[in-house]
Amino acid sequence: MNELDAIVASAQAAFAQAATPADLENAKARFLGKTGSITELMKGMAALSVEEKKSRGAAINVAKQAVEAALNARRQALADAELNKQLQAEALDVTLPGRARGTGGLHPVSLTMERLEAIFGSMGFEVAQGPEIEADWYNFTALNTPEDHPARSMHDTFYVEGGSAKAPNLLRTHTSPVQVRHALQHVKQYKALVDSGQPMPEIRVIAPGRTYRVDSDATHSPMFHQCEGLWIGENVSFKDLKYLFTEFCRTFFERDDLVLRFRPSFFPFTEPSAEIDIQFQSGPLAGRWLEVAGSGQVHPNVVRNMGLDPEQHIGFAFGMGLDRFTMLRYGVNDLRLFFDGDIRFLSQFR
Ligand code: DAH
Repeated sequence: MNELDAIVASAQAAFAQAATPADLENAKARFLGKTGSITELMKGMAALSVEEKKSRGAAINVAKQAVEAALNARRQALADAELNKQLQAEALDVTLPGRARGTGGLHPVSLTMERLEAIFGSMGFEVAQGPEIEADWYNFTALNTPEDHPARSMHDTFYVEGGSAKAPNLLRTHTSPVQVRHALQHVKQYKALVDSGQPMPEIRVIAPGRTYRVDSDATHSPMFHQCEGLWIGENVSFKDLKYLFTEFCRTFFERDDLVLRFRPSFFPFTEPSAEIDIQFQSGPLAGRWLEVAGSGQVHPNVVRNMGLDPEQHIGFAFGMGLDRFTMLRYGVNDLRLFFDGDIRFLSQFR
C-alpha cells in the first residue's frame, strides 16, 4: 500500500470510529487540518519540479477527495443516527385517543338559582343578596325572635368570632335576614317617593344564597341553600302568594298538573304562617305531598323593623330550600352528592 492509500485508509478508520460529531471534527483535523497529514503532503510539494508537481498533485488530490468523501459520509451517518434517535424519543402514537380538555358546567344548585332568578324575574322580582356572616340582630331579633325565644333552638347556629357578647356574629341560619336588610336599604327612597305624592312602590324581591346550621345527614348539610322571597304591597294577600308560588313551581318543574297546599305552621316572623307542600300528579313522586317552603304574612314587628308602618304595609314572605328543589327536579336522593365534588355526578348536569 503506498503512502497515500495508507493515509486514506487510516482516515476512513478514524472517521468510522468517531462516535459523535465532535469526535469526527477532531479526527478530521488530523488529516485535513492545518497540520493534518494531507495538508503536510501538499506543503511538501513546494520543493518539487513542475512535472513532479503535476503528477504528485493529482495523486494527493485523489487521496484528499477520498478523505473528504469519507468525512462527509460519516457526518451524514452521524446526523442520520441523531435524527433517528430524536424521532424515536419523540415518537407520536397517532392511534392513541386525544386528550381533549373537559368542558366545565354549572353546579346543579347554581342551575336552580339561575332558573329561579329568571322565573321570579319574569314576575317582577329583583334579586338581593346579604352577608353569610350575619349579625345576630338581623338573623333573629329583627325577625321577631328575641333572645330566649324557643324558636332560636330550632336553628342550631354556628357562632363566629367578632361582634360582642350581646351582639354576636353568626353564619346566617336562613336567608330571612335579607328581608329586613333589603327593606332598610330602600326605605328612605320609598319615603321620599311617598312624600313627593307618589305611591309607595311594591317590594318584590328574592334572595337566594348559602345558609348554615349544625346538621349533617342524607337530607341535611351544614351548608345548604335557601331562597327568600318578600312581597309587600297595598293589597297583597295569601291568594296572591298562592298564585305566585303555584305559577313558580309549575314553571320550575315544567308540570302544569302540579298542585299546592298551605299547611298551618309556626314561624316567629310571620303570622299567620304556613308550610307549602307540592304534589305531582304523575311521575315517580306522584301523589305524595312534598314540603318545599315556609311562608306567611310578615309579622307586624318585622314590618316595623323594616322601617315601615304595619298599619299601611302588608307583606308576604316565603323561604324555600334550593337543595330540595334541585333534588326534586333531577331525582337526586342524597343531598351529600351535591357537595362531594365527584365529577362523575356533577358532569351529568353539563
Ligand atoms: N326562614 C325559615 C326557615 O329557614 C323559612 C321561612 C318560613 C321563610 C316562613 C319565610 C317565611 O320567609 O315566611 O326555616
